[in-house]
Amino acid sequence: MSEPRAKPSPFLNALDGFAQPTPPLWMMRQAGRYLPEYREVRAKAGDFLTLCYTPELAAEVTLQPIRRFGFDAAIIFSDILVVPHALGMNVRFEAGEGPRLDPVTDRAGLDGLRKLLDPARVQPVYEAISKVSGQLGRETALIGFCGAPWTVATYMIAGRGTDDQAPARMMALRDPGLFEALIDRLVEASIRHLGAQIDAGADAVQIFDTWAGVLDPEQFDRWCVHPLRRIVSGLRATHRNARIIAFPKGASLEALEGLAALKLNALGLDWTVDRAAAKARLGDKVALQGNLDPLRLIAGGPQLDEEILNIRKDFEGAPHIFNLGHGIKPETPIAHVENLVEKVREKL
Ligand code: CP3
Repeated sequence: MSEPRAKPSPFLNALDGFAQPTPPLWMMRQAGRYLPEYREVRAKAGDFLTLCYTPELAAEVTLQPIRRFGFDAAIIFSDILVVPHALGMNVRFEAGEGPRLDPVTDRAGLDGLRKLLDPARVQPVYEAISKVSGQLGRETALIGFCGAPWTVATYMIAGRGTDDQAPARMMALRDPGLFEALIDRLVEASIRHLGAQIDAGADAVQIFDTWAGVLDPEQFDRWCVHPLRRIVSGLRATHRNARIIAFPKGASLEALEGLAALKLNALGLDWTVDRAAAKARLGDKVALQGNLDPLRLIAGGPQLDEEILNIRKDFEGAPHIFNLGHGIKPETPIAHVENLVEKVREKL
């Protein structure tokens, strides 16, 4: 198996534990609807999944924000729901409504899923990665990703996004055996999917645990920490130097400390985290990625400039990757992103 390439990239240097003179910068959901050039390609593709599965188009929209803003990392254009789709689930994206899946609610539903990812549904992702990888300068890293098993399971069980992830939380409590079997399936699929993305040219991988914040500490340990530990060790068994970022949105500082012990390269922080406390408790164990509130980027003005400066100062001296605390929203003005890029790269 191939190892990550050595690159003189500020983003990879930060992941390797070295504080950079100015923090490397990328944004979650940086390829997306706030960009007119994305909306154009998206309209041409018609369907969201068609865009994900057409390597030329997925590569093109991955590169758009790099061309426009010169971010330090590109993230491959795909979705966390590609994994359930490749396990045989029916996944649709309805305009303005978000994802719809035929939910898994019982053992028969789980037994009906594939054991391994359908190559026809994941190969285009790997092809898009190798296309992008060949077109990026050496200073720009490429990120592959998947959803964390817990977050992906919430969509598989509810069949859609929910406000409180109650269907998945109920299954985990009422039928932990069934829930565990589903999580196991996702752990195995995630290890394979991330490994294949690294083989195709991804320099690092991020695991999105968007709904980590709704679990109590016992359930968090069982369904977030433990599966993540298995993914980290499974991936590093085949890809010894795999660089891994986890983004457990909504996790408490105690929960983040538990995750830092897994020897991740970085932890993504949302905007609710106390930065000074995070730096003190985590900064010598992992790089810290974040944590601008995406609404601040929409609002703009002096509060934005001040917060950018505060984030930089709070993490100064630690390996820090500047990012948002969650994905950029479609209504974000492009001028505000341009301002962000400028301010993040200014000398302090
Ligand atoms: O970050 C990037 O630019 C890479 C691409 C990426 C997408 N989704 C593209 C996308 C990534 C990393 C994701 C991750 C993802 N997908 C997550 C975890 C991160 C997070 O934002 O919480 C989740 C929960 C999903 C599932 C998903 N995909 C939902 C709930 C939706 C609908 C809501 C929405 O934002 O529209 C999607 C659709 C989706 N995934 C879009 C994009 C650009 C919008 C679809 C469109 O263009 O019509």
